[in-house]
Amino acid sequence: MTRQPLRLAIIEAERILAAAGVASPRVDAELIAAHVLGVERGKLPLVPLVDPQVIDAIGQLVNRRAKRIPLQHLLGWASLGAVTVEVGAGVFVPRPETELLLEWGLGAVKDVENPLIVDLCTGSAALALAFAHERPDAAVHGVELDVNALAWARRNSDIRVEAGDRPIVLHKGDVADPTLLTDLDGRVDLLVCNPPYVPVATAVPPEVGEHDPFHAVFAGSDGLQVIKHVVACAARMLHVGGAFAMEHDDSQAESVPALLSTRRVLTDVEDHQDLAGRPRFVTARHS
Ligand SMILES: C[S@@+](CC[C@H](N)C(=O)[O-])C[C@H]1O[C@@H](n2cnc3c(N)ncnc32)[C@H](O)[C@@H]1O
Repeated sequence: MTRQPLRLAIIEAERILAAAGVASPRVDAELIAAHVLGVERGKLPLVPLVDPQVIDAIGQLVNRRAKRIPLQHLLGWASLGAVTVEVGAGVFVPRPETELLLEWGLGAVKDVENPLIVDLCTGSAALALAFAHERPDAAVHGVELDVNALAWARRNSDIRVEAGDRPIVLHKGDVADPTLLTDLDGRVDLLVCNPPYVPVATAVPPEVGEHDPFHAVFAGSDGLQVIKHVVACAARMLHVGGAFAMEHDDSQAESVPALLSTRRVLTDVEDHQDLAGRPRFVTARHS
């Protein structure tokens, strides 16, 4: 069996993925190759030649990715901050943009000892687990409505506990329920949320439309159906001085801050952009 240059396999994979409309064909091709070889992506140049079986395995994954199955479903994981979570069918894949929410939230509680942190709409629990990892002194709660997503969250939580992190508390709950976590009312230091926020008529790529759960992405005709309940939770659960951060659609740079401003207890309302300059998340303080 003749060993073959990995570099050529990656170039071919990139060509196939680009033709299929994949947004980042080179990165995806390299991550698939790294996954098959069991090495970090940055170490690929150290692997000049590979067996034909490796080329086959890369080709199979590339063909599935070309069908627009999310890369993270093929790899089985996604990362947020320093934490890696398992993902697949039935749970939203954490996105790089959410790093900004994590970063802002960590800054907001940096001087708070033993902070009480709530992550609403927790999905895979990536954000909750990233906070628990960075702040071992924190009590972190995650809330999720969907039982399939919650099963992923519980598995990820178990994995992080085995890795040495403090356990988080996961709740099956609906942010629209006015009795949700009422025992935490007026006690929370930081409430974060990456809710479903896409208006239903919005066109989305196949990775999202066919693989992320519908109710993880879409939220009514204006995308505000879940957000308005999250804002009510923030007004109720945060203590005076507590911090709130929530992602939103780039079409909601005015509507979401305006929604927060209707709550007299939420002050210092500020909208933030992502690295591409798109309006991405809103923050506020409880006064
Ligand atoms: C955009 S995903 C975010 C998941 C996770 N926070 C992340 O960033 O990867 C939104 C999540 O909210 C959940 N969700 C939708 N409506 C909800 C509701 N009314 N109450 C609680 N969770 C809800 C969905 O099931 C989904 O897991």
